[in-house]
Amino acid sequence: MILCANLKCNHTRASFADYAKKLNNFISSNKAHNNEIIIFPPSSAFYGGSVSFIQGAQNFYPTVNGSFTGQIGEEMLNEFGIKTVLIGHSECRKIGENDEFLQEKFKFATKRNWRVIYCIGESEDVFKNGKSADFIQNQAKNIDLSYNNLILAYEPIFSIGTGVSADMEHIFAMTKALRNITSAPILYGGSVNDKNITDIISIDGCKGVLVGTASWQIDKFIELINTAKK
Ligand code: PGA
Repeated sequence: MILCANLKCNHTRASFADYAKKLNNFISSNKAHNNEIIIFPPSSAFYGGSVSFIQGAQNFYPTVNGSFTGQIGEEMLNEFGIKTVLIGHSECRKIGENDEFLQEKFKFATKRNWRVIYCIGESEDVFKNGKSADFIQNQAKNIDLSYNNLILAYEPIFSIGTGVSADMEHIFAMTKALRNITSAPILYGGSVNDKNITDIISIDGCKGVLVGTASWQIDKFIELINTAKK
């Protein structure tokens, strides 16, 4: 399974160093088993020491460097050996990242063979109108779905940060709709926690999870990894 932690706008350099060390110890004693662990800290908190998990970037600007105030480019990611990026998270789409810009970022990442976790997901309105499958397939078709270093994360917006995941039948149906258009691994994200992770990762075609809230405290995230391995 692929277990990802999206720390969002949480953790300082000091607190993430502690997080990274605890996770390193846990993984080094082989307790994560075959699960692949990917952590997305805030970019101000990237860990400079060696890590036994994959460290990824929550966001980046499609440039090596240059006059882009407030942005993080390839040169900054290279300094931390980061080659895994999130693109298209609904919280980034909400503040203005449109399909065209996401495409530009995707192309920049694919030219470098970075691993891309591309997020898609419908709103509650789309869900209530029964249009979820069409909607997320269209979102996914914005990028080259045959890219060999691609992971898709299905994250229904109405579930993110609410404490309530989408129901299992819906996650299964959406995973299936995506499987019809790509062979990229598909993750689920949206209020994953230690109570629902076992059911979610048992869904046919679901290759793992993208966890927000339940990953912010290292002890809780380790508990989640422990639950997933059972
Ligand atoms: P959540 O966040 O687990 O807090 O719902 C998931 C995400 O936004 O990736």
